[in-house]
Amino acid sequence: MNVVILAAGQGKRMHSDLPKVLHRLAGKALLGHVIDAAREIGAGQICVVYGHGGEQVRTALDAPDVTWVRQEQQLGTGHAVLQAMPAVAAAPGATATATLVLYGDVPLIRASTLRRLSAAAGSGALALLTAHVDNPRGYGRIVRVDGEVRQIVEEKDADVACRAIREINSGILVAPAAALARWLPMLGTRNAQGEYYLTDIVALAVAEGMPIVTVHPDAAWEIEGVNSKLQLAALERVHQRNVAERLMEAGVTLADPARIDVRGEGACQLSCGRDVSIDVNCVFEGRVELADRVVIGANCVLKNCRIGSGARIAPFCHIEDAVVGPDDIIGPYARLRPGTELGRDVHIGNFVEVKNSTIADHSKANHLAYLGDATIGRRVNVGAGTITCNYDGANKFRTVIEDDAFIGSDSQLVAPVTVGRGATLGAGTTLTRDAPPGQLTVSRAKQMSLPGWKRPAKKAGLPKKD
Ligand code: UD1
Ligand code: CA
Repeated sequence: MNVVILAAGQGKRMHSDLPKVLHRLAGKALLGHVIDAAREIGAGQICVVYGHGGEQVRTALDAPDVTWVRQEQQLGTGHAVLQAMPAVAAAPGATATATLVLYGDVPLIRASTLRRLSAAAGSGALALLTAHVDNPRGYGRIVRVDGEVRQIVEEKDADVACRAIREINSGILVAPAAALARWLPMLGTRNAQGEYYLTDIVALAVAEGMPIVTVHPDAAWEIEGVNSKLQLAALERVHQRNVAERLMEAGVTLADPARIDVRGEGACQLSCGRDVSIDVNCVFEGRVELADRVVIGANCVLKNCRIGSGARIAPFCHIEDAVVGPDDIIGPYARLRPGTELGRDVHIGNFVEVKNSTIADHSKANHLAYLGDATIGRRVNVGAGTITCNYDGANKFRTVIEDDAFIGSDSQLVAPVTVGRGATLGAGTTLTRDAPPGQLTVSRAKQMSLPGWKRPAKKAGLPKKD
């Protein structure tokens, strides 16, 4: 099967400099959703007709299986498909196969529906995806005589009787490629909009005696297009609800299925083990894996990360390109930045930032710390206010903290520096040389008290300063 995706429209009602098909739904360009649907049904060749925003669209979504055809002027849907025909015909065995026409701004079309449409078309029929709707305004109407499809009439060309028809054309269809190649050059522009209507191929098929079949989508939202930010937001909600339903059907507990967002380029981006629970307002981006019994607190953002079994992420955490180990406790208010790898039973508490660091099993940094470019062993305790000074303004250096070390509160570790196994740093230490294993290292001014010292008192009779 060949697929032609129409994506040349400007999308005036988006009021945006970004081409319409590049606006994002669930973090993925509208056109990306359609290309992925085509891939899902095993499209042999995917041909995208682009125009507005031109090279920007092409660059954003180029791939080895996509052929790009530029439509300089948007003269109508029939003209658009015609532009794609040379590319379609060039595919091996193309003329013997069917061509599926999709729309770059109809992002939620499902592969299952497209498979049914293609099966209905078989080898020699024209198959139209249609729907019965309460308000058919703006759509092409399916005109039937004795139940058989005779033609499609556009809203602007329709008389009163025609406008009353509530079976509408989704625009999505499957036709034999050879028939399309025959029909498209025959289309004219004698209609209310002066455009080459793809829908006029229906009358041509009738004239040839080709069977015309219709298929309905499983859900109405599958054929809804995006013309405005309002419609984009509405379809975003539909999509997120679908994702939430899939998660719940797989056993995930969602505190509120209306308050979770899963975004990203690929298909199923969030994978969950057994007995995973997710509180409200969490955003998952890219590939996120939650192992068995993971609990995610409210208002967390997780991007490209793996969370080990039994780990608990308390509310308001931000985790990106990181690995959290089994039984870890993270947050609330923790930030795990790229390159963070935590072992088992690690505790990262509030206002702790970790970057490009490994922290081995049973270690803890429970309060207010920055751990960057650090290698931290097992059973290490990092006190409140500890900072790895990893950057001298030009270069980054590593800090190594070996097993069983204890870092006193408010310490600064000026990298490159190593804290030996079992070493203790006294609170407030500024460590500039390695701390030997097993010993107490302190670097702070000695405390002293002055007996008999008196606090200065205000002298009487002096003028007040202002
Ligand atoms: C089209 C159908 C109509 C159907 C409706 C569903 C025709 C003549 N009419 O109408 O029966 O009910 O879709 O939404 O086909 N495009 C191009 N190049 C062009 C023209 C359009 O790429 O020259 C693309 C647009 O970007 C858009 C799609 O084709 O994604 C549909 O075009 P649009 O002008 O919106 O068609 P409608 O008038 O809505
Ligand atoms: Ca439209």
